[in-house]
Amino acid sequence: MKAIKLCDDIFWVGGIDWDLRNFHGYLTQRGSSYNAYLIIDEKVTLIDTVKYYLADELLERISTVIDPSGIDYVVSNHVEMDHSGSLPHIMKAAPNATIVTSPNGEKGLKAHFLGDYNYKVVKTGDTLSIGKRSLQFLLTPMVHWPDNMVSYMPEEKILFSNDAFGQHIASSEIFDDEFPLDIILEEARKYYANIVLPYSAQVQKALEAASQLDIETIAPSHGLIWRKHISEILGEYQKWSSNATEKKAVIVYDTMWHSTEKMAFAMRDAFEEKGYNTMLFNLQNNHISDIMTHFILAEYICVGSPTLNKNMMPSVASFLTYLKGLSPKSRKAFAFGSYGWGSMSVKQIEGYLEDSGFEVKGSFDSKYIPSRERLEEIKAGVKEKI
Ligand code: FEO
Repeated sequence: MKAIKLCDDIFWVGGIDWDLRNFHGYLTQRGSSYNAYLIIDEKVTLIDTVKYYLADELLERISTVIDPSGIDYVVSNHVEMDHSGSLPHIMKAAPNATIVTSPNGEKGLKAHFLGDYNYKVVKTGDTLSIGKRSLQFLLTPMVHWPDNMVSYMPEEKILFSNDAFGQHIASSEIFDDEFPLDIILEEARKYYANIVLPYSAQVQKALEAASQLDIETIAPSHGLIWRKHISEILGEYQKWSSNATEKKAVIVYDTMWHSTEKMAFAMRDAFEEKGYNTMLFNLQNNHISDIMTHFILAEYICVGSPTLNKNMMPSVASFLTYLKGLSPKSRKAFAFGSYGWGSMSVKQIEGYLEDSGFEVKGSFDSKYIPSRERLEEIKAGVKEKI
């Protein structure tokens, strides 16, 4: 294992999680990485660490450059354990190091670790000189935890952005010009949809602050480092955080005997005839975190379930719980579903959609198998309301 040079005296020393497939419920088909950065200057500085089970990998990469006991500062941009889990290992190797973090970072780290560590608490606008170079700090609370901050090095024009601009990709290439851009952007979009989306207002503020910085490299803590396509990822974040929508509808459903599915198809036909880009997802075959990726720019969200034992199907309830947590803003919705002898699911879905802040434009149920006439009614009803 080796350290990879970003520029003179600055190295990527992170851990690659090749086999990760589940990140607290988010399906990570491409694995992930936890990027840590080592800066060799008068004060040797490590920016972030890695998950606890990759601590040896982190220490081994650092050791190819310097004895880890020589680390003076460990900047903790974010408490969450994918970036701080091996902090105790680093502090054991470098007992005289000082942890540099935000006020909430100090509280969070002390709540996680019992070690009697030296802390230096920083806030927005503070600068830490480490020799020829310096680090400026910008607190970015709730992007996506209260402790989040980013660190900017003006001398090299590098923004160490932690979770922001990250992607769950395991790769031995570390730069955005060494990996297919469409995959990086797709994974960045999935990351935004599943992690950052509820905090879009805070992202807008952070983007405004970042626009004052001269940035040549964005070094996130997951996935590829941006050095060539910075304007693309900043533009995407601007778009995703604005809550703007496009003429797009996403229809999500589960089905027992294909009746709810027939209704989903009728709704798809309505949206298509109205010129909408329409996507259809059966929850039996699609993971909720993959579906969320498509909601970022969707104007309409349609959710369907048959009634099963006086309830919606568990798969739909799970999806709606996840959706409610992420609650994209300014969306319109439809609820639909079939039933045998008691229609319960549609009302329940409607309730979830309303609680998620969506404008419910209509709902449709159908007893047993929807007739051709009922499907035409649903199609006409949707077309009338969009
Ligand atoms: Fe990658 Fe919020 O941790």
